Amino acid sequence: MPLTTVDTTLDSLPAVARETHSTSRLVTRLEQLRKTLRPTPHVPLAVEGMNLFAKLEFVNPVGSIKDRPALWILKRAAERGEICDDTTVIESSSGNFASALAAYTRLVGLRFIPVIDPNISTTYESFLRRLCPTVVKVEERDDTGGFLKTRLEMVEHLCATIPNAYWTNQYGNRDAAEAHYELTASEVCADFDALDYVFIGVSTAGTIAGMSRRLKERYPKVRIVAVDSEGSVIFGGPPRKRHIPGVGSSIVPPLLADAKIDDAVLIPERETVRACHELLANHGLFVGGSSGTAFAAVKRYAARMAGAKRPTVLFVCADRGTPYLDTVFDPTWATKLE
Ligand SMILES: Cc1ncc(COP(=O)(O)O)c(C=O)c1O
Repeated sequence: MPLTTVDTTLDSLPAVARETHSTSRLVTRLEQLRKTLRPTPHVPLAVEGMNLFAKLEFVNPVGSIKDRPALWILKRAAERGEICDDTTVIESSSGNFASALAAYTRLVGLRFIPVIDPNISTTYESFLRRLCPTVVKVEERDDTGGFLKTRLEMVEHLCATIPNAYWTNQYGNRDAAEAHYELTASEVCADFDALDYVFIGVSTAGTIAGMSRRLKERYPKVRIVAVDSEGSVIFGGPPRKRHIPGVGSSIVPPLLADAKIDDAVLIPERETVRACHELLANHGLFVGGSSGTAFAAVKRYAARMAGAKRPTVLFVCADRGTPYLDTVFDPTWATKLE
């Protein structure tokens, strides 16, 4: 038996050492989780006139493209010492980003308060309520007819009133774009020798900012086509009430300035619904609204894909169809769209 024992439990450490210990534990755990983000598949679709591939982002662990920025933002924030074990993470989300944050914060032992609105699908809402002790749902529409501005005001209020609050700010956080530069786009680069067109749905613009930059480095001639919903203001169109979450926005997202975009296509929601049904019936892909919107944009754009050879085209399937069962895949709901 030694004469003196060294007590290395957390309680015995001075405050500074305790902080370093807990911070590095958080960083290590987040880095371990990052390794669980495996490359998502690129599957071919039989379509006339092009070699079309879908990138299946719903294969990510929590189920959407937002797994990548959620984990990457937490990891970077922990590395910089901006979050620690006492942090309460706060975020506004229409579903996927909040779901990813809910899962990952829980896996590393952080508190998370999602701010949602009535457009959220029941699937996401019940997922969030299972995982998070507090869920804040705003009810008032903003001046564009959407809920985003109201949600962001609520985030501001919560950050001002909750101790050790941290807003991941998916709308302006460059770490979100970095996630897609490093992970999402790098997987594409590893799989394709050549690429002519890539269609990406836009909301916060994190995906298109990161992917477009990386893809333009690898394929200098690739054309990046941004896909948006009619009624969204991202590309300067007049605001109108929209119903399908995931694509579009009632603000111009700051990350858009970092994207390298060649063209933008705006799709009406009825066309999104038809495209989602076509992906399911003809191509065996049960995917969500932004995937249908991107596929509709590919079809609209096909005539403009000039060139002697058959182009290689990729579009992003950001999430699965399940959360859209009571909207896009409900025939009664769909007939009410303008
Ligand atoms: C289903 C879905 N598709 C596309 C997007 C758009 O991605 P980004 O916010 O990176 O522009 C989102 C964003 O929430 C989404 O949930």
